[in-house]
Amino acid sequence: RPVRILVFGAALRAGSTNARLASLASKLIAETGAEVDLARIRDFDMPLYDGDAEDAEGLPPGALALCERIKRCDAFVVSSPEYNASVPGLLKNAVDWVSRARPQPFKTKHALLLSSSPSMIGGNRGLWALRVPLEHLGTRVYPDMFSLPRAHEGFTEDGRLAHPGSEDRLAETICGFMRLVSADVQFVCLQRRWYEF
Ligand code: FNR
Repeated sequence: RPVRILVFGAALRAGSTNARLASLASKLIAETGAEVDLARIRDFDMPLYDGDAEDAEGLPPGALALCERIKRCDAFVVSSPEYNASVPGLLKNAVDWVSRARPQPFKTKHALLLSSSPSMIGGNRGLWALRVPLEHLGTRVYPDMFSLPRAHEGFTEDGRLAHPGSEDRLAETICGFMRLVSADVQFVCLQRRWYEF
């Protein structure tokens, strides 16, 4: 069966460069034959985590929707801005809510981390910070990451990367990630076949 990948940008603003990078990544992933579910974090609107609200009402609808989309995929790709050298509160809040669901949706999922920023390091420090909660939750975070520097001038009008070397590097990262995820999905399918005998 085709591999299913959820891809989403983790910034709210309409002109988000991370949304553009997520969209380009989804096109490159689709070229590998995978099924892509392209989302934006605004599709999963949720309040700040509050233990009383959770006790009274459980997870809010936006968090449940994100849980469902993660559950349906084999792996996810997130393109996130870096805020003050770390993970934006919005994304950390979403991770915190989703981590409360059972079974815990992040466990054993593969993830590829991307970032973009107008700075010269492309928001890469934020991705190191994002690794901590995801790996804590059992997500298999791919060792390689891609960060787009000077993102405000990094895209062509048709959504490609202005610097061809950068797009090659993104494609190479995605290719390595997809090889790993596809091999894992094939192995799980094979295992199921053995169990059915
Ligand atoms: C930023 N930005 C930023 N950029 C960066 O490279 N390192 C940083 O530490 C920060 N810190 C930071 C804090 C806050 C509160 C804001 C609002 C912004 C700039 C950020 O990278 C820029 O706004 C990006 O354009 C955000 O990504 P989108 O919205 O284009 O996807």
